[in-house]
Amino acid sequence: MTLRSGAAGLGERGFRAGLTWLSHRRALGRLATRIPVTRPMVARFVVGQTLDEALVAIERLRTAGYATTVDVLGESVTAADSAIAAADRYEATLQALAERGLDRNVSMKLTQMGLDIDVDLCRATVERVFRAAAELGAFVRIDMEDHTKTDATLDLWRAVRRWNPSSGVVIQAALRRSPADIERLIAEGAPVRLCKGAYNEPASIAFRERAAIDRAYVDLGVRLLRAGIPAGARPAFATHDGRIVEQLIRVADGDGIPPDAYEFQMLNGVRRDLQASLVRRGFGVRVYVPYGTEWYPYFMRRLAERPANVAFMLRSVVKEGRGRRQPPKPNEGAPPPG
Ligand code: FDA
Repeated sequence: MTLRSGAAGLGERGFRAGLTWLSHRRALGRLATRIPVTRPMVARFVVGQTLDEALVAIERLRTAGYATTVDVLGESVTAADSAIAAADRYEATLQALAERGLDRNVSMKLTQMGLDIDVDLCRATVERVFRAAAELGAFVRIDMEDHTKTDATLDLWRAVRRWNPSSGVVIQAALRRSPADIERLIAEGAPVRLCKGAYNEPASIAFRERAAIDRAYVDLGVRLLRAGIPAGARPAFATHDGRIVEQLIRVADGDGIPPDAYEFQMLNGVRRDLQASLVRRGFGVRVYVPYGTEWYPYFMRRLAERPANVAFMLRSVVKEGRGRRQPPKPNEGAPPPG
């Protein structure tokens, strides 16, 4: 590492840490969701505020050859009513997906289901969604939040898995503990989604250098590919990193592992070029489709992942300010390519 790249890395980490900190500021979230200027930027990542808007987006993605997983946005709830309402929304979403013959696949966060309030409440709300999903033949994935939730998330998934064997978890390559977690999950035949990790974690818990995280991702990805996980529990590689995608494909090809033994997952609105090229090449790509009004923390993590997103947002805010005085030019407001 040179002095210059070290300084750049520190700057980027500080920037990310700042945005992650802001993502937890509830009052800012309430303000942001009320300001109209944020909407065009949010629309790049979040397909809409309502279930109907989400269904339109999923239908469009299906026509284009993508699988989908739906995230009913919400996290860190502090009232039991909110956790119960979140379970209601997931049930309604699953029902609507089944009625329309769409991909029955959802992703949820445990702090949205009441984990910060009471573990028993959380278990009850998750169990309700798991049972509803099992009746509809649907897949449920529990997203992974920051490292303080890792044990609770894996424990709770193990406790409720019997209600829906077709359910899975997420492992973050950045966490130092992840190789051990992956080994245990492989032994359990669990469907694992591997991601780099979206939270700002301490160095004692997680790798913080990009190169170390990328190396860990590839190591864990190769381990999952070679584990021979049973059908129905195929590993999901959640990344927009084209180099990692190609490395994993090369390993799979070299080992004679067919493309239908694994899938790639990407966020709505990010690296659409890569998503499309993988589908054209015959790989399975699942798009993560978030909808709802509670988009603020999700959106802030997307900003933290790519500094150019913030620059774009600030430019748009300035333009919006000027636009109150001047009419907009055609095609203004298009986001930069992801
Ligand atoms: P990296 O950040 O290196 O990005 C590679 C390239 O992708 C960038 O150069 C850029 O071109 C593009 N890119 C990435 N993010 C972008 C953005 N926000 N805007 C525009 N371009 C962007 N995390 C977590 O902690 N728990 C979880 O449960 C999940 N779940 C999850 C599901 C799915 C389907 C995905 C794709 C990701 C997650 N994540 C997650 C997020 C994940 O941990 C990680 O923060 C992001 O995917 C960014 O990391 P990449 O692997 O894309 O690499």
